[in-house]
Amino acid sequence: MPAVPPVSRQQAVQAIEEQFTLDKPLLESLSARFQELYDYGLANHGAEMQMIPSFVTGVPTGTEKGTYLALDLGGTNLRVCEVALDGNGTFTIKQEKYKVSDQLKTGPVNDLFNYMATSIDNFLTDFGTTSTEDVLHLGFTFSFPVEQSAIDRGHLIHWTKGFNCPDAPGKDVVQLLQDALDRKHIKVKCSALVNDTVGALLAHAYAAKGALISAIFGTGTNGAYLEDIRKIKKLKTAEGSISHMVVNTEWGGFDDERKALPVTIFDNKVDRESIRPRNHIFEKMISGMYLGEVARCVLLHLIDQLVLFQGFSSKLLNTQYGFDTAYMSAIEADKEDATSTSSPTRTVLVATMGIKEEHISAEDIETVRTVCRIVGTRAARLSAVAIAATMVQTGNVQSTGPNDDGVKVGMDGSVIEYYPHFEERMRGALRELIGEEGEKRVKIGLAKDGSGVGAALGALQAAKQLASGHR
Ligand code: GLC
Repeated sequence: MPAVPPVSRQQAVQAIEEQFTLDKPLLESLSARFQELYDYGLANHGAEMQMIPSFVTGVPTGTEKGTYLALDLGGTNLRVCEVALDGNGTFTIKQEKYKVSDQLKTGPVNDLFNYMATSIDNFLTDFGTTSTEDVLHLGFTFSFPVEQSAIDRGHLIHWTKGFNCPDAPGKDVVQLLQDALDRKHIKVKCSALVNDTVGALLAHAYAAKGALISAIFGTGTNGAYLEDIRKIKKLKTAEGSISHMVVNTEWGGFDDERKALPVTIFDNKVDRESIRPRNHIFEKMISGMYLGEVARCVLLHLIDQLVLFQGFSSKLLNTQYGFDTAYMSAIEADKEDATSTSSPTRTVLVATMGIKEEHISAEDIETVRTVCRIVGTRAARLSAVAIAATMVQTGNVQSTGPNDDGVKVGMDGSVIEYYPHFEERMRGALRELIGEEGEKRVKIGLAKDGSGVGAALGALQAAKQLASGHR
């Protein structure tokens, strides 16, 4: 007899559901904690949720024009783009993606930056440029926590999302890039450094003719918003004529102290085995890099309780990060009957994950779907906490009257774009947090190509700020 305490499938799944459920009081306490940490981060350097001033002091109106290069590091691929803004809220973009190997992600930082410079060079060779300038201006979307000291200067605080070049923290990433470009005599000047959230905000403001808040739900999660300069207390150099600045919240680091977050044993396992344990736990409960991994840990637990797949796993399901978040999306989108022999869920389990067909019952199919729903729903509801807190922070919950057209929120990333029901579940929790009126004011738009277009707009903004003497 196996020495596993006997539980029924129903009991086992219910126990999981209880651990992952975020009821209204819990959502509210998380939201209150968010507010506290927003204030703390705006007043203090070195906070876990860093609230980084971006030195971007305005958002586009949609009339901006110009051609810029953009470099984007921090999602699944490295991207080089040329973006032509036509001044009408629209743009054309040429782009190429380059793979970043695990070796480059974790080796000497110069190797990574040399690779980026070479990729820019290859891009220019392959595509040429339409710009007539002698030196091409480039906006750099670098989606990691960076302590910025100017729009074109910033030191890496630490890595996230599986990157870990050990000699990079503390270095100015613009300087690293410029040096790599100069070493190869590539006539490109990196004139702006933006986080992807800042890029998404700029891109959405350009396309939608204004925006206040942005959020990324992709490989990682984070948000940015336009803050009143007087509230950014840690910014000593604020000049009188500047009224607002975009703040990169780095909300992935929300409550790393775990005072409020209901972290489960599954989250702990994901965290402990990740490249940076005890860091960005909120992100590890929400974003695409980790959702599949959380679900995988839950599935293995059910297998070990002998209530799933007759207690059998597979090599891939036993492998860290072997269950991709994209598989969860496919499973959550599956509407077929659980007994169907060709349902997408069964295909993922058999063809992709290598679970033996004879070990999978119709109940197992239902259980796997339930696990994905539970993990995916918690992610969406946690995301709502961040959005609700930002709506409160910017004083935007209440309607402004009959002509109120809400708050434009630009979003980007694979989870918001492709994960089934994500927005709908997020909106459900938003209603619980800021009421129906508040939720309706959240006007979500996809900031398509946010990192590319945003970087170009960052470079344009840098030129504008330079001309007006506000760096
Ligand atoms: C991680 C990074 C952050 C980025 C986010 C989304 O949280 O620390 O800078 O914005 O991922 O890509």
